Amino acid sequence: MIVLKTRNDLEKMRRSGLLVHQILRALEGMVKEGVSTRDLEDAAQRMMGEAGARPAFKGYYVEAAKAKYPYVLCTSVNDEIVHGMPSRRRVLKPGDIVKIDTGLELEGYYGDAAVTVAVGDVDGEVRRLMQVTREALELAIQQARPGKRLVDVCGTVQRHVEGNGFSVVRDYVGHGIGTQLHEEPQIPNYLDPKAENPRLKPGMVLAIEPMVNAGGPEARVLQDRWTAVTKDGSFSAHFEHCVAVTENGPWVLTRP
Ligand code: MF3
Ligand code: CO
Repeated sequence: MIVLKTRNDLEKMRRSGLLVHQILRALEGMVKEGVSTRDLEDAAQRMMGEAGARPAFKGYYVEAAKAKYPYVLCTSVNDEIVHGMPSRRRVLKPGDIVKIDTGLELEGYYGDAAVTVAVGDVDGEVRRLMQVTREALELAIQQARPGKRLVDVCGTVQRHVEGNGFSVVRDYVGHGIGTQLHEEPQIPNYLDPKAENPRLKPGMVLAIEPMVNAGGPEARVLQDRWTAVTKDGSFSAHFEHCVAVTENGPWVLTRP
């Protein structure tokens, strides 16, 4: 069942969303050569604490890993797609890209967003990968309006990504969000004939999160049971926003 949010719910989700945005902005500003992904984690933990928010990822049970995720952030570097774990040993160097993904709960409502950040100068093709992923998210957001269906969101991502010669990860998907981090519906970044295809209605909130590989779409999970990487070692980009469907069109809750 897809939970429709009231105006009051959306106001609350807006506050969570803006806090996520603020934290990601600050973390983006920290990214440079010599910074470890654990430094980002520590800063995020402190900022959430100061704001009175609860980290949504830390302690979140994930069936595929059969464990609770241990950190506030997912920090996935280069060929890591998602669920990369912050580490003091993972020190960022020029040419890297780092995906910073985080969620939090404030007064019972969740926010969740992700950005990909370049460390120093990165390869031109990697910059294009980031740009196409960002564009795919923006085009998908524009589909989040009454009268459209979920496939319009999913298909828009896929068309833009594949039209630019990249590929969409199949093993991880976006999701509804509200008083839970993950609600219905699942939001694949491709057309999945098995997926449900509801009409989009005012009050739905979608966490749209294209994960895009420079090479093939296949992913595998490392021995740590969390880190998902591209099978072919190609770089991967990820951007995510929470978007409310309203009578007036898409409302991106996770940016000002
Ligand atoms: N990438 C996931 C999302 O944005 C992260 C949540 S799972 C967790 O929905 F294990 F990291 F908590
Ligand atoms: Co998400």
